Amino acid sequence: MSLLDTEKLLAEKSLLMVGGKGGVGKTTAASALALRASELGRRVLLVSTDPAHSLADAFDARIGDRETPLAENLAGLEIDPDAEVDAYLERVRRQMARHISPVQRDTLERQLKLSRESPGAQEAALLERISALVDDPGDRDLLIFDTAPTGHTLRLLSLPEIMSVWMEGLLQQNRRSEKLGEVLAHLTPGRDLDSPTAGGDERSRALAEPLLERQGRFRRTRRCLQDNRRSGFIFVLTAERLPILETARAVENLREAKIPVAGLLVNRVLPDGVGEGGFLRARKERELRLLQDIEQRFADLDRRHLPLQPDDIHGLDALRRFSRLLHSP
Ligand SMILES: Nc1ncnc2c1ncn2[C@@H]1O[C@H](COP(=O)(O)OP(=O)(O)OP(=O)(O)O)[C@@H](O)[C@H]1O
Ligand SMILES: [Mg+2]
Repeated sequence: MSLLDTEKLLAEKSLLMVGGKGGVGKTTAASALALRASELGRRVLLVSTDPAHSLADAFDARIGDRETPLAENLAGLEIDPDAEVDAYLERVRRQMARHISPVQRDTLERQLKLSRESPGAQEAALLERISALVDDPGDRDLLIFDTAPTGHTLRLLSLPEIMSVWMEGLLQQNRRSEKLGEVLAHLTPGRDLDSPTAGGDERSRALAEPLLERQGRFRRTRRCLQDNRRSGFIFVLTAERLPILETARAVENLREAKIPVAGLLVNRVLPDGVGEGGFLRARKERELRLLQDIEQRFADLDRRHLPLQPDDIHGLDALRRFSRLLHSP
């Protein structure tokens, strides 16, 4: 392996995803990376998709659901999954209301209500927002996503499949209309979505069009995620058993999904020479064993160690200091 060249990543990519097990330091790492990229002159948007937002905490600033300036060239955004679900269902309602009969409208309302509570609704709505950002980053050069813990994120990454299952559930009632059913069949994974309008009457087409448009956007998002030149996934982990195992699984899953892994940040590494005896010494020895394990498991991935700091890393100054560790030799 070689040392992860974060400077190169930050200078060249347009999309970076930061993932890893809960609590390993994703938000801190994503924030530090974003700050560093902004120092390199790139216009960066740092986005949190974690329902329990800590971006604001890390920066010691109010952020929320609107792009908020955090430093020169750097803005932050915390996507609120619940608000996203509501906004999403409202769009669906508006799109569909135009095309259905009053009788169907009641069904639609009931269905939307159910959908709001259905598993996967938040994921679907989050995806909608993420893919909209990736598809149209505005004047940003680089998007950095601080993703929620790994399992959740990976589900998000199987995008179009999840989405079509969810949409089909949503629209099941309308399947009574045979024609619509035909059109919806085109939303099923594996079908050729590039020729969406083969079949179905005009109304069905009008109904299906926004859905197909959305799927098109998801496909572009996925293509972007899979494009090594544009995107990379950075895993943060600590030298502990569970984060190592979870990262190994996640790396494997991403490989299967053909999503390039840019490298690993091994966080909270104890300083050398810590503890001449006793407890800390034992901790350091255990850490060395686990670092070796990481080296073996992830032999083909670039890595970088980030040292444990004496204090939590909060606020712009602390993040700036920490971000220097991302590119020190
Ligand atoms: N190298 C480090 N040294 C000391 N403290 C650290 C280090 N990295 C992160 N921390 C602190 O650990 C805490 C958790 O970090 P962070 O919020 O970045 O983790 P996370 O992976 O985003 O957690 P979650 O999965 O809950 O989103 C924070 O208080 C942060 O300041
Ligand atoms: Mg976090």
